[in-house]
Amino acid sequence: MWKKDSWKDYKALHLPHYEDLNELNSVLSTLKDFPPLVFAGEVRSLRKSLCEVAEGNAFLLQGGDCAESFSEFRADNIRDTFRVILQMAVILTSGTNLPIVKVGRMAGQFAKPRSSPTEIKNDEELESYRGDIINGIEFDKSLRKPNPERMLKAYSQSASTLNLLRAFADGGYADLRYVNSWNMGFLKSGTEYERYRNLANKIQESLNFMEALGLTPKNTPQLTKTEYYTCHEALLLPYEEALTREDSTTGDIYDTSAHFVWIGDRTRFENSAHVEFCSGIKNPIGVKCGPTLDHDELIKILDKLNPDNLPGKVTLICRYGNEKVQDHLPDLIKRISDEGRVVIWSCDPMHGNTVKSSDGTKTRPFENILSEVKNNIKIHNSEGSWFGGIHLEMTGQNVTECTGGIDDISESDLKDRYHTHCDPRLNANQAIQLAFLIADELRNNAT
Ligand code: PEP
Ligand code: CO
Repeated sequence: MWKKDSWKDYKALHLPHYEDLNELNSVLSTLKDFPPLVFAGEVRSLRKSLCEVAEGNAFLLQGGDCAESFSEFRADNIRDTFRVILQMAVILTSGTNLPIVKVGRMAGQFAKPRSSPTEIKNDEELESYRGDIINGIEFDKSLRKPNPERMLKAYSQSASTLNLLRAFADGGYADLRYVNSWNMGFLKSGTEYERYRNLANKIQESLNFMEALGLTPKNTPQLTKTEYYTCHEALLLPYEEALTREDSTTGDIYDTSAHFVWIGDRTRFENSAHVEFCSGIKNPIGVKCGPTLDHDELIKILDKLNPDNLPGKVTLICRYGNEKVQDHLPDLIKRISDEGRVVIWSCDPMHGNTVKSSDGTKTRPFENILSEVKNNIKIHNSEGSWFGGIHLEMTGQNVTECTGGIDDISESDLKDRYHTHCDPRLNANQAIQLAFLIADELRNNAT
């Protein structure tokens, strides 16, 4: 019998150990009384859109920070990431002629699984940084201690972020008529800039044409508003549990911390506390699929997460790495098809392509990211499955974290603006460039 806290009877990896249980319980009971961050009706609309993705009538775009931070919490940062995601969506629509379902890794993407539980610097060993919702990034003993109070700050930051995102999505910023004035961030000239301008002009012409036929923002609200959803890894189960509520209109249970949540590559196994928790909520669920995935185990996980095999419920977010994708993805697609499972196939081309630069900085070469996406498209084409989405770590800022791309960022440039709190992100230019190249690939592969 599933309960909000039945995950506690399962194997829970990557959760922090809180020393002071009274303090933890007091924070959790405060959170339980806080209003939901997202509403069941919104989650149901996302589910509907994801059904369209599963059926090949829409495309899923997920993107945002690897780890949101308290220190980079500013309206400009939120706006810039939102704007780049909208621009990518416009570009991808031009490649697919399909609606793009936009889901930001925002307003709650705080908790991180780490490859090592501790970090050593100058002979001192401290607990690893686990994301701002758990501990501090500074290499300081007291700040690295998991502090439950941080959950309240993460909740409040998520609430303000959502407030702004809803205002941007509904309040005119996403108006397609202004697509020309969404500036290209840091791109002032060059091929991608010209292509975006041309696309924006074409959209403007189409809107003028539609307006002449009587389709105006007044009678067609889709022209001025957009649907925008949020997602994060449901890693910190005590926090997720505290925000899990029964919907008063349907009696169904929703995790109201985000519209979409996913289970990470390190916590998606049989008997996992994270799988148990996610099996009881109505939200759409992502499952990260990396090279260590056992296919029999995945089928059991799907039995649990989606026993009725409903379309749009589960997204398999494949993150094999460019070199390994051919070894794993075709077999996985065959197995899922033999089992008759309905899933959305998405590609996270970030997490399998992390490398260290010569001075040890974590980076990701743009060409490997692009190549993994292209390989996904090719493989799905030959297997006859629908390549339904991409999942990116990206920002609207002009950071230097991934090498390559239009600005040709080199390893020695990485130190200039390396701001991520965890993994390297595509910057605004790289994200837009990637969207154009993926749109080209989808257009060329359309059957
Ligand atoms: C992530 O998406 O930030 C992440 C940790 O991914 P994965 O679980 O695929 O390694
Ligand atoms: Co990451």
